[in-house]
Amino acid sequence: MTQTKTKHNKRWQLLRNALLSQAGNQPQTHPDQSECVFKALFGRVELETVSSLPETDMADVHTLLYPLGSGHQLKISTPHHRLDKANLFSQYSGFLNTGNVRIWNSEHVMAYWAAIKNPELFRGKSVLELGSGMTGLAGLAIASAANPASVHVTDGNPTSVASLQSNIARNSSCFGPSAVINASQLLWGEKSSTLVDVIVGGDCTFDANAHEPLRNTIIACLNASGVAYLFCPRRGNSLLQFYQLCHSKSDGLLHVQWIENYDGNVWAIHAEQLELSRNDPSIYNADKEYPIMIKISRLPKLE
Ligand SMILES: C[S@@+](CC[C@H](N)C(=O)[O-])C[C@H]1O[C@@H](n2cnc3c(N)ncnc32)[C@H](O)[C@@H]1O
Repeated sequence: MTQTKTKHNKRWQLLRNALLSQAGNQPQTHPDQSECVFKALFGRVELETVSSLPETDMADVHTLLYPLGSGHQLKISTPHHRLDKANLFSQYSGFLNTGNVRIWNSEHVMAYWAAIKNPELFRGKSVLELGSGMTGLAGLAIASAANPASVHVTDGNPTSVASLQSNIARNSSCFGPSAVINASQLLWGEKSSTLVDVIVGGDCTFDANAHEPLRNTIIACLNASGVAYLFCPRRGNSLLQFYQLCHSKSDGLLHVQWIENYDGNVWAIHAEQLELSRNDPSIYNADKEYPIMIKISRLPKLE
């Protein structure tokens, strides 16, 4: 068995044990207490509350506090669904459920890169986040720190969308008074109701079946001078296939860039983790954990 497979199996075993122990309403350790090396980009992310929502099937809500600089603090809730042993597999498996499991590395990196390091790219702009998962951390960080005209966080999974809506409500005092911040379901292949200036998306390219619909949504939603920034780990050939699809099938419509080193601090953590993993490969698997930036813009129309 390869080391990668061993690590994968170990992780699945840990997740399975954790889920099974929670299925009987045992005390829980939230998945977001799990390792995400890039969370350190924000400094100290605290766990503020763990509360119960008896009126819904969302058993527990864990609130993480992300410092965004200049006094902004984002309160991000990650509902932890009450688990049912009989339906454990259907509750936590399936590509459309991946956003209800945890906040993935890509979302952390994207939030940091966009809201803390490059807010000027979003100032006064209409922003659409695709595949926001249950938190929309990046979209809401942009809404809090970058003064955009609007932020629309979206996901295909209705449970994620309900959680996005409650995260917006929880942070409403952080958003600029004139900014329009909302959440709704958007399945890839469909388009949003209006064209936008900027699209962001974290860890959205893992499923090859969704590549073409995702690309179509990006083309359909970006305005003429719009730019999309996707942050996704390679995940085998998956990211490369998406990148090649955008190149080959875009009929000269899109300019697509593959950018590995887009921020010094992100790159430093990546390099440090690679070094540490030389002795113990289970520490860090760049293939699944390091987000590469795919930047997509429309090519100007030839007259
Ligand atoms: C790996 S998760 C990433 C979630 C979040 N961006 C993060 O990094 O924490 C991928 C997200 O894409 C959403 N998704 C997958 N396929 C989709 C589709 N066809 N249409 C809309 N959303 C989809 C999933 O529901 C999930 O929330």
